[in-house]
Amino acid sequence: MRVQFTETVLRDANQSLMATRLPYADYADILSTMDKAGYYSVECWGGATFDSCLRYLGEDPWERLRNIRKNMPNTKLQMLLRGQNLLGYKHYHDDVVEKFVELSIKNGIDILRIFDALNDFRNIKTALEATKKYATANTIASGCISYTQSPVHTVSKYVEMCKELNCMGFDTICLKDMAGTMSPYEAEHLIKGIKDAVPDMPLILHTHCTTGMAYQTLTKAIDSGIDVIDTATSCFSNGTSQPATETMFYALEQYGIETGLNEKVINEVNNFFKPVKQKYVDDGILNPKSMATDAQALVYKVPGGMLSNMIANLTDMGAMDKFDAALAEIPAVRADMGYPPLVTPLSQMVGNQAVTNVLVGERYKNISNEVKNYFKGEYGIAPAPVNRDLEAKILGAGGVPTDCRIEDQKRTGEEFKKAAEELGDLAKTEEDIMSYICFPKQAKDYFLARKEKEERTCKYTMEACDED
Ligand code: CO
Repeated sequence: MRVQFTETVLRDANQSLMATRLPYADYADILSTMDKAGYYSVECWGGATFDSCLRYLGEDPWERLRNIRKNMPNTKLQMLLRGQNLLGYKHYHDDVVEKFVELSIKNGIDILRIFDALNDFRNIKTALEATKKYATANTIASGCISYTQSPVHTVSKYVEMCKELNCMGFDTICLKDMAGTMSPYEAEHLIKGIKDAVPDMPLILHTHCTTGMAYQTLTKAIDSGIDVIDTATSCFSNGTSQPATETMFYALEQYGIETGLNEKVINEVNNFFKPVKQKYVDDGILNPKSMATDAQALVYKVPGGMLSNMIANLTDMGAMDKFDAALAEIPAVRADMGYPPLVTPLSQMVGNQAVTNVLVGERYKNISNEVKNYFKGEYGIAPAPVNRDLEAKILGAGGVPTDCRIEDQKRTGEEFKKAAEELGDLAKTEEDIMSYICFPKQAKDYFLARKEKEERTCKYTMEACDED
């Protein structure tokens, strides 16, 4: 028996624990060692890394990817891609999605883990097709399911989703438990059900330690036939991050399960990251709170991040006396919206609407634009029928019901070309144009700073020449 590991320290682990503030320079020196660890893959790009590079770290995300590629020639590099949203929150046109995938593969990505917040697979189809179109011998298209619990999210529903991902042509399937609420029992039933339905499809489990259940869940998942687990080197594990790589390695060794990992190397990797982590603990970027176990998500069925957000908002407004009422309102709003998985951006939308309903004292007297757009079908199809009265109130006469609306009208605009024209000579490469499309302001600021730096260097060189 064999279970392989995806190491997440370069992406999800530092995104979860320290808001993705890990600069490339902090880990450049360990990459060639990590390359010898024997991981199934290293998750190193996508998610919030792209935004963080441009917004906070003054890095070109594409250059970061090329550097990782150069230093890890033998390991599969993995990214997280939010389907038609790419790395942002709006739906991009097909030409942009296709170009983004093309450039990701060209710059070094092997595995594209593609998901949609609502599991509306129309939103991941273009990214899949582009992956197939630009695939190299190493490319893997991984179809990813946002895992959540609700009356409509049954084992059979998830099995159906997996069959669909299989039919669509994905190479592997990943179950993404972003809130860390998947219990050992649920993992067992889910994975056995999926393995029965699509036995040849490699299955990956991505979970978080937030609620403290992840190790037990992984153990059951392994018993039930999971092929790959996501873990983080131990000093960047636990809390809101993934379970620890070395811990799972030692446990599996004793079970006699082959992992392909090199014990010496994975320990060396952790030793390297220990002082890196300490630096961020010392300067407060890594908040010790994110290292704690918080089982509230299991009690309230609300992800930890969403709960702490709500507490912060209510405290700001001096309305913590409404906390219990707001908490009770969340499942009600979620039911009205057809049980969307509580993942960004839906967790924020549901949470804010619940708080508003309670604070205003009348349900849906004020409705946020995001919720209105959700009912207009702009995010995709809801997992279950929405509240029809609320839908009628939002859409008015002649509105097309949420679950009938076809949002995937050919997105054939020339968004890429338009952006190229806007940027002019500030963009040097297609990658620059893509950065600008994803994060216009941050990318432009970055390009302007880059230009200024180049001009300074250029002037300096000229002056140096003059002295000669
Ligand atoms: Co995650």
